[in-house]
Amino acid sequence: MPAGLQRLELLARGYAVAAVKADREGRIDEAVANYRRAIEVLRKIVRLYPDNPLVGVYQNIMAQYERRLQQLEKIGVPATPREAEQLEEWVVTEKPRVTFSDIADLEHAKQAIREAIIYPVKRPDLFPLGWPRGILLYGPPGCGKTMLAAAVANEIDGFFFNVDAASVMSKWLGEAERKVKMLFDKARQAASRGKPAIIFIDEIDALLGVHESEVGGEVRVRNQFLKEMDGLQDKSSRIHVYVIGATNKPWKLDEPFIRRFQKRIYIPPPNRKARLEVFKLYTRKLSLAGDVDLEKLAELTEGYSASDIRDIVMEAHLRTIRELFESGNGQGEPRPIEMRDFLEAIKSRKPSITREMIELYVKWNERFRG
Ligand SMILES: Nc1ncnc2c1ncn2[C@@H]1O[C@H](COP(=O)(O)OP(=O)(O)O)[C@@H](O)[C@H]1O
Ligand SMILES: [Mg+2]
Repeated sequence: MPAGLQRLELLARGYAVAAVKADREGRIDEAVANYRRAIEVLRKIVRLYPDNPLVGVYQNIMAQYERRLQQLEKIGVPATPREAEQLEEWVVTEKPRVTFSDIADLEHAKQAIREAIIYPVKRPDLFPLGWPRGILLYGPPGCGKTMLAAAVANEIDGFFFNVDAASVMSKWLGEAERKVKMLFDKARQAASRGKPAIIFIDEIDALLGVHESEVGGEVRVRNQFLKEMDGLQDKSSRIHVYVIGATNKPWKLDEPFIRRFQKRIYIPPPNRKARLEVFKLYTRKLSLAGDVDLEKLAELTEGYSASDIRDIVMEAHLRTIRELFESGNGQGEPRPIEMRDFLEAIKSRKPSITREMIELYVKWNERFRG
C-alpha cells in the first residue's frame, strides 16, 4: 500500500474514532467536527486512490457519516444507545427461503454441517472432548457457500445471525471490537434457551484477513473475534454457539485464525455430474425443446461455476423472450429453449474458475484440510 494512502487512512480512522466516541457521549459539536474531518479525508483518499479496493467501503462510510451529520445538525440530539436495535437487525427473523434441496450436489458439505451442529446439540454427552464451534466453508466463487450457510438457517432449528464482513467494516468503524463482543453475547444469550445459535460471517477474509488496511480496525476486530471464539471452546459449556465463516480466499487468513475453525469444508467447483444437476435444477421450470441435451451441456461447461451455469440458463431463456418481443409485441408464449440457445450462451461467457485457481485451493487443502 502506498505510504501516503496509509497515512491518510490512519488520519481518517483517528477522526472517525473521535467522532463516534464524542457522538456516543453526547458531545455534539466535537462529534460534528470530527465526522466532517473524517469525511474530508475519506473523500481525499477516494480522489487520490480511485483504484483502491476499499473505495466502495469508504463511500459507504462517508454516506453514513453524512447522514449522521445531518441528524446531529438538525436536531442536535445526542446519539442514543442504539446497539440493541442494531443487533436486532442482524438476527435473521425472516428466514431465507433457500433449503438444502435447492442446492445441487454438495452432499458431503450438507452432511458435514448437519453432523457438526445437530449431533452435539442432541447428545453433548457423546462428545467429552468437545466439538468444533467454528466451521469454515471455502472454495471458488459461485459454488454455493453463501447459499449453504443461508440454508442452514432453515435446516437447523436455532437462532441465525447473519453478518456480512464488508458492511460490518463500515458500520463498525471506530467501535468494532465492542460490537463483536456484543454479537457473541447476544448469540450466547439466544443459545441459552436450548437451541443452537449460529453466527454466519460471509466473506470473512474481508474482516479478518492479514493484509487488510487498518482503517476499519480489522486487526482489533480480529483479536476480539479470536478471543470470542476461544470462549466458545469451553468444554463444560452446554451452550451451543457456532460460527460459520465463508471465504473464496482462505489463504488470506492467518494460522491462529484458521486454527479456530476446526471444521473446514471445501466447496469445490462442480464436476460433470454436479453440473448436470445444476442444469436440471435451473431448467426445471422452463420449457425445453427436444434437442436439448443437458448431459452434453454438463460436459461442455468444465470450469464453469454453479453460478455461471445459472446465468447461462437465464441467458438462454432470455434469448427466447427477446425474440418474442422483437418479432411481435410480447404477446403469447416464447418458444421452447433450444440447444443452440444454450450453446450461444456458453460461448458468450467465460468460465469463472481457472486451473490456476484450483491449484491454489488444492495447495491450501493439503496444508489445512480438516
Ligand atoms: N450448488 C449450487 N446449486 C444451485 N445453485 C447454486 C449452487 N452454487 C451456487 N449457486 C447459484 O449461484 C449463486 C451464487 O452462489 P453463492 O452461494 O453466493 O456462491 P459462493 O458464496 O460460493 O461464492 C447462488 O445464489 C445460486 O443461484
Ligand atoms: Mg458467497
